[in-house]
Amino acid sequence: MSGEIENVLQEHRRFPPAADFAAEARLSSEEAYQRMLRESLDEPELFWGRVARELPWMQPFERVLDWSKRPVAQWFVGGKLNVSVACLDRHVNSVRSGKRAIVFEGEPGDRRTLTYQELHQEVCRFANALKARGIKKGDRVAIYLPMVPEAAIAMLACARIGAAHSVVFGGFSAPALRERILDGGCTAVITADGSWRRGLVQPLKAQVDEALSSCPDVHSVFVVQRAKNEVVWSARRDVWWHDAVALVSAECEPEPMDSEDLLFLLYTSGSTGKPKGIVHTTAGYLVGTYLTSQFVFDLRDEDVYWCTADVGWVTGHSYVVYGPLSNGATVVMYEGAPNTPHFGRFWEIIERHKVTIFYTAPTAIRSFMRWGDEHPKKFDLSSLRLLGSVGEPINPEAWIWYHQIIGQGRCPIVDTWWQTETGSIMITPLPGLTTTKPGSATRPFFGVDAAIVDEHGNELGPNQGGFLVIRRPWPSMLRGIWGDMQRYVDTYWKKFEGRFYFAGDGARRDEDGYFWIVGRIDDVIKVSGHRFSTMEVESALVSHAAVVEAAVVGRPDNITGQSIVAFITLGPGFKPSSELRADIDKHVIHEIGKVARPAEIRFTEALPKTRSGKIMRRLLRDIAAGIETVGDTSTIEDYTVLAKLRAYED
Ligand code: WT7
Repeated sequence: MSGEIENVLQEHRRFPPAADFAAEARLSSEEAYQRMLRESLDEPELFWGRVARELPWMQPFERVLDWSKRPVAQWFVGGKLNVSVACLDRHVNSVRSGKRAIVFEGEPGDRRTLTYQELHQEVCRFANALKARGIKKGDRVAIYLPMVPEAAIAMLACARIGAAHSVVFGGFSAPALRERILDGGCTAVITADGSWRRGLVQPLKAQVDEALSSCPDVHSVFVVQRAKNEVVWSARRDVWWHDAVALVSAECEPEPMDSEDLLFLLYTSGSTGKPKGIVHTTAGYLVGTYLTSQFVFDLRDEDVYWCTADVGWVTGHSYVVYGPLSNGATVVMYEGAPNTPHFGRFWEIIERHKVTIFYTAPTAIRSFMRWGDEHPKKFDLSSLRLLGSVGEPINPEAWIWYHQIIGQGRCPIVDTWWQTETGSIMITPLPGLTTTKPGSATRPFFGVDAAIVDEHGNELGPNQGGFLVIRRPWPSMLRGIWGDMQRYVDTYWKKFEGRFYFAGDGARRDEDGYFWIVGRIDDVIKVSGHRFSTMEVESALVSHAAVVEAAVVGRPDNITGQSIVAFITLGPGFKPSSELRADIDKHVIHEIGKVARPAEIRFTEALPKTRSGKIMRRLLRDIAAGIETVGDTSTIEDYTVLAKLRAYED
C-alpha cells in the first residue's frame, strides 16, 4: 500500500499553544488529557455515559452502547430526550436566559439579535405553526433557506416536534432540490422568497416552485420574507412564515424522542451519481457535537463564536446550530459573501461583534490571502483567541498566513478532520494542549480509534501512506443511508469486511502519531470544500442533448482546492463551439447549481478506456493537471485518444 498513496509534504514547523492561552484553557495538561483519552478508549461506556448525563433527559438511558446490530450502532439505549430542550430550555431556565444566542448580520447590512429566551419563543412558535399544518413526529421536512436566523429556528422547531429535517444547500438548483425532497419523502418545505448574495437576490422560492412541479407529497411550503422579491403563490400550499407564526402560542411541549429516533437527513455525495441521505439520530449526535464544541473550541460563556459554514452542510448543522447552542454559546451568523460590499467584510464582522472564535474553510483562507493583507489589517482583530479550519487539507502556506495575519501569531489553530458521516469532529488539536504542525489535523479526539491501514486492514507504520479507518463506533456516527442500508454497508464497511469504518480518505500518521490527511481516494471531488461525485456531474452533463459521453475529474486549484474539469464527447451533428460550451455550462448550473460548474470543458473525440471499457480517470486527471502521464498505459484501448486529448485545442 505504501507508495500507492504518496505524501511528499514535509513540514517541520511546530506551534505549541501560547502559555497564556494554555493557562486559561479547559484542558492544558498532557497528563489530564491522557487520563481522559485512556478512559474514553478503555471504558467508553463510563466516559460517554458521564458526558451524556450532562444533557437533559426525559427518561434516563439504560445502556450506553449496543453494537450487536453492527454496523448500525445504538447509543444511549432506552433514553428519551429532545434536542431542542438541550439547546434552548436548559439555558432559558438558567442565568443564560437573556444571553445572546444568535447574532445575525444580513448581507445588505441589517442586523438582528436573539437571546436564548427569544430564540426559544421563536422555535416554539414555528413548531406550533408546523403542527398546525399537520406536520408531526416522524415526518421529513426539507429546509431550503439562506443563512438567516430562521434556518436555525426551523431546524430546532423540527427537532422540537420530532420531525426530521433535511436541509438542502441554497446554492443547489431545482432538480437537485427535487431529487432530495423525493428521496427523503419530505412532505413540507421551508424556504424564503429570496436571499442576498453579492448584492443580488437569489430567487429561492422560484427554485422550490420548479422542484415541486413533480413532488406530489409536499402539502405545505413555509416562506420567509427575506428579499421581498416577487414570488408566485399557491394559495393552497404556500404560507408566509410571519403569517404562520402570528396566531400560534409561544409555548410548545417538546416531543419525547428516543435516543435513536431520526434527527435529520443530510445529503452528501459519494462515488456514484446518486446523493446519499446520511442518517443522524438524536442522542449520540447531540452528545458528539456537544462535547467536541466544548473541547475543540474551548468554549466559554464569554465567547462570541463564528463558524462561517452554511447550514446546508454538516458543519452548519454541528457547529453553527447543535454544538454551540447545546453549550449555550453566542453564535454569529452572516448571510452573504465575504467580499460584499468590500473585501474586508468578515474582518469588519469580527471587529463589530468582538468575535473570539473563528472557524472557516481552507478555500476561504486562500481567497483571503489572494485578496491581500490590507483588508484584514484595516480592522481590529484583537478579540480573536482561537481559529479553526475544516473541509479539506489546509496547505502549510495558508495555515501560516491564517496564523500570522488573522491570528496575529497569538491564536492556536484547530485543523479539524471529520465528515458528514461522522457527525462531529474526529481528528483535531485540543487548543490548550496540542503542539500543532501546519497541515496536520494532529490526533484523534476522545473515544476515536483512528488508524492507517493497508489494503488488507493491517496497520501501517509511521509515515506510510494508507487508508484512514475508524476501528470502533462513536456516538455521532451515521446510522445508515436513507432508504438504502445495503449502500451503507457497501460504502463504509465492506472494504475491511465489517471490521472498520472506511472513511474514503488517504492519510499517513507521522512519528508523533499525528495524522496527515491527503484527501479522497474515491471519485469524490472537493470544490471549495463542497463535496461532489464525479458521476453526479457526469450524469448532469450527459443529460444535455449534445453530450454523448462525459468524464469528470478534479484538478488541483490554488484557491478552491480542486476544480472540476469535464471531458466531453459530442453526438453526431454537434460541433465544439464556445456557444455550445456556454450552453452545457448553463445546463450543469440548472441541474445541480453554480457550485458544480466545471472550471473547464474539453471536447474530445473519444475518452481513454481500458479494454473492459472503464474510463481511465487517472490519465484524465494528469492531463487536466497538465502533468505528463507516467504510469502504466498498456491497457489503453486506443493510444491515439491519449495523444488527441493532450493536444486538445479549441
Ligand atoms: C471530507 C468530508 C467535515 C465537515 C465538512 C466537510 C475532507 C474535511 C478535513 C481536514 C483534511 C478534510 C476529507 C473528508 N476533510 N476536513 N481538516 N483535513 N481533509 O464534510 O463534505 O462530508 O467532507 O472532507 O476528505 O473525507 P464533507
